[in-house]
Parts: sequence; structure tokens; C-alpha cells
Amino acid sequence: MVNRRKVAVLGATGMMGQKFVQLLAHHPWFEVSAVAASDKSVGKTYASSIGSRREANLPDELGGLVLTEPKPRTLDDPDLAFSALPAEVAGPVEEDFAKAGIPVFSNASSHRMDQYVPLLNPEVNPEHAVMVEEQKRKTKTDGIIVANPNCTTAILTLSLKPLNDKYGLETVVVSSMQAVSGAGYPGVASLDIMQNVIPFIRNEEEKVEHETNKILGSMSKPAGITVSASCNRVPTLHGHMEAVFAKTRSAATPNEIVKAMREFKGTPQQLKLPSAPQHPIIVREEEDRPQTRLDVDEGNGMTVTVGRVRRDPALNGVKYMALGHNLVRGGAGCSILNAELFLAKKIIK
Ligand SMILES: NC(=O)c1ccc[n+]([C@@H]2O[C@H](COP(=O)([O-])OP(=O)(O)OC[C@H]3O[C@@H](n4cnc5c(N)ncnc54)[C@H](OP(=O)(O)O)[C@@H]3O)[C@@H](O)[C@H]2O)c1
Repeated sequence: MVNRRKVAVLGATGMMGQKFVQLLAHHPWFEVSAVAASDKSVGKTYASSIGSRREANLPDELGGLVLTEPKPRTLDDPDLAFSALPAEVAGPVEEDFAKAGIPVFSNASSHRMDQYVPLLNPEVNPEHAVMVEEQKRKTKTDGIIVANPNCTTAILTLSLKPLNDKYGLETVVVSSMQAVSGAGYPGVASLDIMQNVIPFIRNEEEKVEHETNKILGSMSKPAGITVSASCNRVPTLHGHMEAVFAKTRSAATPNEIVKAMREFKGTPQQLKLPSAPQHPIIVREEEDRPQTRLDVDEGNGMTVTVGRVRRDPALNGVKYMALGHNLVRGGAGCSILNAELFLAKKIIK
């Protein structure tokens, strides 16, 4: 692919928006041509607007981009857009882009459960991508909305995919330990989270339970897996750790589960997409891994690291720990890999 597509990042100054810009800065297929944020940022350069919120060093040419409103006409005719807008804002903005013929790859929850919006974790349910054909028929444009899962769900469903494919899933119980960057900027007040665990994240458990079933189901029917989630905010910076308990429909030993996870490869790996990690899932043998500090950047943040796979006597199934980067596999990286999949499959031009 020679011509890099011009892309706009909506909500570019936030936690997720900055991760998009960072991952896109040297991308072989995409070039950031526009950045958009709220009224308070419009007219400022990207570098001055993110100021002390800056997450990583920016190439000079991106730091000099001037922020605009997230409206299709105010941007320089992008080929596609990545949305990192808050859910309260994203819904109508993303629809406007789609109506203007611009494909939108979104991190926001606004359209995730819409009937014809694929909720894609690219190694897990790439076959759902064709759901956008119905969107194209309805809008009569090539503009579409493609959502990626909530961060906790992205990590969970990738780890569950080999189990579901080989043995069928009946019940999944998950307890999450979620990093503070998952709450955006400024997120949880430091006085609330230091030396503390907060056993509540608004709407998170419902998202995990519903989205998991949409992703692991068929295009027309949720999977019918009983999913029960308990979500907690913990004082780590990046990386969501999840304690997963799963009962499969046909019996599987922990060794068989480990083998299925290790052998698993998805369409992004087969197509050798630029953001596809070589190993979507890594299973570690050590008794005390995964650990957030040691494993969060595995596969450039796109790999889910699993460990402590063992028998679960309560469900008569297996239990394990899974760790993933909430801003990469759980957000911007997943969205970018979705866009690569759509280009490689020629679903968008
Ligand atoms: N953080 C995560 O781990 C994570 C994971 C998965 C999904 N998500 C989703 O990704 C989205 C962004 O999350 P975040 O954590 O990056 O939040 P954030 O740090 O609060 O960033 C929000 C961004 O949206 C912009 N914005 C706010 N109100 C706006 C408005 N009225 N019009 C235009 N732009 C507006 C902000 O611009 P200003 O700087 O100008 O205010 C900023 O760029 C959310 O939908 C979130 O649920 C986040």
C-alpha cells in the first residue's frame, strides 16, 4: 500500500486520542491530517493544547496541527476518522461523519450495540465486518461506523476466543482490576485512588456482559453465554488485569486450554496487518505472571498475556488471569487494526 490514507483523530487531546496519535505517527498506511477536540481546544496547536497532559513525545509535524471542531466540513477531507470522543458526544458526531461518506472507527460506546454496527475485536469476530454493508445501503454512502469493544471486554474476549471455538462457552465470571488511565483525563482524583481500590465503575459490568455476547455471537444472535462481571478501579497507570472463571460446554483440561490459546492466530495475523501482534495471546508458565508492570506492553500493547491457568472447582471449569493494555488492545490499537482489516479486505477504499 503506497498512498497513506489521511485520517482525522476526534477527541485527539484525551487519553485515548493521544494513544491514537502516538500509534498513527509512523503508521505505514495512515497519516494524521487533522485533530479535533472540544471548544476549549479549538484553534490551539495540538502540542500546546495537550501541554502537561502529554503522554509521549510527538513528532514536530503533529504537534503543530491546529485543533478543529469534530465536524466533517471543518476537517481537511479525511479518508477516515478515528473517534476517541466521550460517549455523550460521540453518537451524533460519528453519524455526521458517516453521512458525509467518511468511515468512522470508534472507541466510544454510543453505537456499539446498534444492529448494523459491527463490534469488532479483529482476531475474534472479523466475519462481523460485513454488517456494514447494511449501513451503506441505509445511508447510501460509503460512510460507516465500526465500533471496538470496551477495554475490559476486548481483553476478555480475545482470551476467551480459543476456548469458545474449541469447547463452546457456557458461563464466564470475571473480576477486573482496571488501571486509572481507563477513566480518561483527569479521571479518578488521586486522593480517591491512591492506596485504594474502588469497587465500582459506572456501566462497566453491563458493557462487559452484553458486549461479550455480541462479539462471540453470530451476526444476528448474541452468543447466549452467561457472563457475570465485577469491575474494580485499582491504582495502576495502564493495563487491566482480569481474573477469569470459565465453564465450557465440552470438557477441557487446563493443559488443553493453554494449548488452544498458544496455537490461536486470527485473520490479522494471517493477513500480516501492520498492527497485528505476532502472538495475540501469550501464556506464561511462572506462578506469579502476568504482572502489570512486566507484561502490559507485550506485543506493543496488542497481546493479551495469560497466566495461572488452572482447574476451577466452583464452575467445574478453568480459571486464569489475563492482562491487556487498556489504551492499545482495549482501545486505539484495536481500532487501528480494525481499519487495517477493512482496507485489506477492501470493505473501505
Ligand atoms: N481510557 C480508556 O482506557 C478507554 C478504553 C476504551 C474506550 N474508551 C473510550 O474512548 C473515549 C475517550 O476516552 P478517554 O479516556 O480518552 O477520555 P478523555 O481523556 O476524557 O478525552 C476526551 C476527549 O474528547 C474531547 N471532548 C470532550 N468533550 C467534547 C465535546 N463536547 N466536543 C468535542 N470533543 C470533546 C476532549 O477534548 P478537550 O481536551 O478539548 O476537552 C478529549 O480530546 C470514551 O468514549 C471512552 O469511553 C476509553
